[in-house]
Amino acid sequence: MALQIRITPSILNADFENLGGEIERISITSDLVHLDVMDDIFVPNFTFDFERASEIISVSKLPVDAHLMVSKVDQIAPKYAEVGCASVTIHAEATTDIRGTLRAIRSNGARAALALKPKTSLEPYLEFLDDLDMLLIMTVEPGFGGQKFMTDQLPKIAQARKEIGSKAIWLQVDGGISLDTIESAAAAGADTFVAGSAVFNSSDPAQMVSTLRLKAQSVGN
Ligand code: DX5
Ligand code: ZN
Repeated sequence: MALQIRITPSILNADFENLGGEIERISITSDLVHLDVMDDIFVPNFTFDFERASEIISVSKLPVDAHLMVSKVDQIAPKYAEVGCASVTIHAEATTDIRGTLRAIRSNGARAALALKPKTSLEPYLEFLDDLDMLLIMTVEPGFGGQKFMTDQLPKIAQARKEIGSKAIWLQVDGGISLDTIESAAAAGADTFVAGSAVFNSSDPAQMVSTLRLKAQSVGN
């Protein structure tokens, strides 16, 4: 049975002065909006604090997929669920209580997700699959949009797809996804795609989202 494909554009490269409008622009063709929260500690960049992120979440016309690239993530992650995120992603490298925090996200009403940086192996985290609604395999070093897709992550994506098997876990990739790279990520087994610069640097972001989806679907996993 073909995988259901989801496109979750990142607003990291959108116009920060008009995020409500930018989310509206892609809302017709996108599944969720990917909100990159960076604290300039876990990654060398800053985007939103919890207060500003909560404002964006409250006005978003799309369900929000919050990607928390922050230190002390165990304390703040459940709060992103409380304020209405559809999905909350914590980094394996930032938490000291993976199972507890994933369960707290779920008990606060959001889907729970775990992200792995490119240098982080998959194997040590397979024991948490039952607590996951989504697994995020980073295909760039987190911190910035517009980076090159890391093809050396393709085997990890394929391994994740194999380990997920028939479990209802979305397999998301994030970083460098474009018309040139989405097919190889889909062929490796990803079903949920973050795209930031490919979408917001295009002349028609909503149309780009549709074209990305068609490309991923054409792989026919
Ligand atoms: C990077 C972020 C990604 C990034 C994607 O740390 O997690 O979501 O914004 O941007 P592109 O698609 O331009 O690589
Ligand atoms: Zn992200």
